[in-house]
Amino acid sequence: MMTLYDFWAWWPAAEPVQARAEMADARELAAIHGASFHRGWDVHEFEAMLADKAILAHVIRRRPSAPVGGFVLSRVVAGEAEILTIAVSPRLRGRGFAGRLLADHVKDLMRAGVGPLFLEVEAENEPALKLYQRHGFAVIGRRKGYYKTASGTADAVMMRKLLPPI
Ligand SMILES: CC(C)(COP(=O)(O)OP(=O)(O)OC[C@H]1O[C@@H](n2cnc3c(N)ncnc32)[C@H](O)[C@@H]1OP(=O)(O)O)[C@@H](O)C(=O)NCCC(=O)NCCS
Repeated sequence: MMTLYDFWAWWPAAEPVQARAEMADARELAAIHGASFHRGWDVHEFEAMLADKAILAHVIRRRPSAPVGGFVLSRVVAGEAEILTIAVSPRLRGRGFAGRLLADHVKDLMRAGVGPLFLEVEAENEPALKLYQRHGFAVIGRRKGYYKTASGTADAVMMRKLLPPI
């Protein structure tokens, strides 16, 4: 007889799905951003960014019909790009969502002919630093006291990944 445990072991786990972000996602992106950063960007800021042709944005969902679980946004200018933000809904962190998002995002940046890809991250943001190091970003500088935090200021670490031409 099939037990409940056998049933869960047999049922295929839903694979997360990634896609380009759409204007209709702006509200969900603002909610995730607000839950992730000291100063969240509002829905109008996201709408403006999603309308901007220089912005590349991807979202990830736990399964196709699920709400947005995370997103990443970059600005591409003259063959260079900067990751403006990446965030995963707090309840979905630690499951590899950011890693999947970043891998797909970088592939699309390579297809767009981007060479150097830059970003800035708070020096004490261990999950983000791990994520970027795992994906081949190298530290290229540090700005002292760059971020305002709840308890004062924090340094910014500047990182870069050189994307090969394809
Ligand atoms: C940073 C963030 C996007 C990572 O998202 P995530 O989906 O949880 O990340 P992943 O599960 O893909 O894990 C990425 C790496 O971080 C590590 N990590 C995840 N959560 C961690 C934690 N709480 N503490 C330490 N490391 C952690 C993982 O082990 C993994 O490293 P590994 O591949 O070397 O094992 C997420 O924590 C977040 O949204 N934070 C708030 C917003 C933010 O800080 N964005 C970055 C701004 S530059």
